Amino acid sequence: MADLATEPIVYSFTDHRVYRRESPLIIAEGDGIRIRDTAGKEYIDALSGLWHANLGFSDSEMIEAATAAYSKLPAFACALGRTSAETELLAGELLTAAGGRFSSVYFSASGSEAVESVLKFLWLASNTNGAPSRKLVVTRDSGFHGTTLGAASLAGIPNQHAGFDLPLPFTVRVPRVHFYRDHVDGETEDEYVDRVLRTTRRRIEEAGPENVAAMVAEPVMAAGGVLVPSDGYWPAMARLLADLGIPLVSDEVVCGFGRIGPLFGHQRFGLEPAAVTVAKGITAGYAPLGAVLLGPDLTGALADAAEEHGVLGHGSTFGGHPVAAAVARANLRALHERGLQGRVAELEISLRTSLEGLLDLPVVGEVRCIGGLAAVELMAGAAARRPFAAERRVGRRVAAKARELGLIVRDLGDVIALCPPLITSASDVAEIVSRLRQAITATLEEEA
Ligand SMILES: Cc1ncc(COP(=O)(O)O)c(C=O)c1O
Repeated sequence: MADLATEPIVYSFTDHRVYRRESPLIIAEGDGIRIRDTAGKEYIDALSGLWHANLGFSDSEMIEAATAAYSKLPAFACALGRTSAETELLAGELLTAAGGRFSSVYFSASGSEAVESVLKFLWLASNTNGAPSRKLVVTRDSGFHGTTLGAASLAGIPNQHAGFDLPLPFTVRVPRVHFYRDHVDGETEDEYVDRVLRTTRRRIEEAGPENVAAMVAEPVMAAGGVLVPSDGYWPAMARLLADLGIPLVSDEVVCGFGRIGPLFGHQRFGLEPAAVTVAKGITAGYAPLGAVLLGPDLTGALADAAEEHGVLGHGSTFGGHPVAAAVARANLRALHERGLQGRVAELEISLRTSLEGLLDLPVVGEVRCIGGLAAVELMAGAAARRPFAAERRVGRRVAAKARELGLIVRDLGDVIALCPPLITSASDVAEIVSRLRQAITATLEEEA
């Protein structure tokens, strides 16, 4: 305990004592997809910071947009019926880009706040719409939605709850979709998806669909292991939700802004959510910003509630910050005008092709890839789907070895997650995968 007193930062998602033993990584500067630490060592950041620096670390148009915005209006708030010109323009551009599905935008400063806000909005809408029993929220095992009390309650990752007295009792937990790990021997992918959907329906029916406000789900789970859904999953889930009268909130904090291809993650699967939460890639990480895009029903309910109570009793100081808004507008321009979405399709192909080359390693059970999001699942026996014993911490050691080799990846248990900047070239992908291969091989050789 006393040790902690000497550490000036409480790091997110970090085991402090391990971190201190393994020496800190303090980054001084970035250039393209590369970052350099204070000792001058260079790394390829194949996680884009924390799944967010989608344009890398030196995009001149983004930096110019921020600089210009700072000299014009460096601070303002989107509250009390006032906002900045940049924020107003951004809202319009987001609504247009989403193709008319949504009617309003609520701005936050982070993804957690966006999710927390939408939970409160759902509850407010249930009360305002005369359906006060509708307070439960359907959420999936392995899901991640942020760290505030409500958002963390949605998580399907045990370490988000342990010791925090969470989850709060408003969730209906349903299975994730992870065919490789969760199917039983002999089960086809279609049969597996059917089983997941049957369990999902049963759990919702047990809770009573009339008590459910929404399902909150990531189109592709990121922090839960980069779980690319089986083909039939989202169409079947959309039908189930429609059948039960449950709206979908698509949490696209990672999947938005081109990360899995289209501008919005739900578009990749043809989903029709009632609301969407975004953050991270909305500014490519160049400024903190989150947002909730609200469909007409929720927009109307919020307006009714504000009228009923005399005010919308919810808001934030930094949400919709003018500089963040200007940077987000520059990011939208980059995606449209520089053809970055086309580059994501190329990135998907090069990531998939290169990572599939790792399948010759006996410890690589599966590689998953969608857009610029990918994972390598490490298993003690890949063919038999036999996992490593957790205490061997194989994933953590591979990530540490990769760092020694100048590559930043994220270990999610024994899943190695990759989320390189969308500007990553095919030759950079080859370099990333070559360093990852060395890291895996060296880690296993150490064991032998
Ligand atoms: C899907 C999802 N939702 C919400 C969040 C929370 O975002 P933030 O860290 O900006 O609060 C994250 C963060 O990784 C996320 O992956």
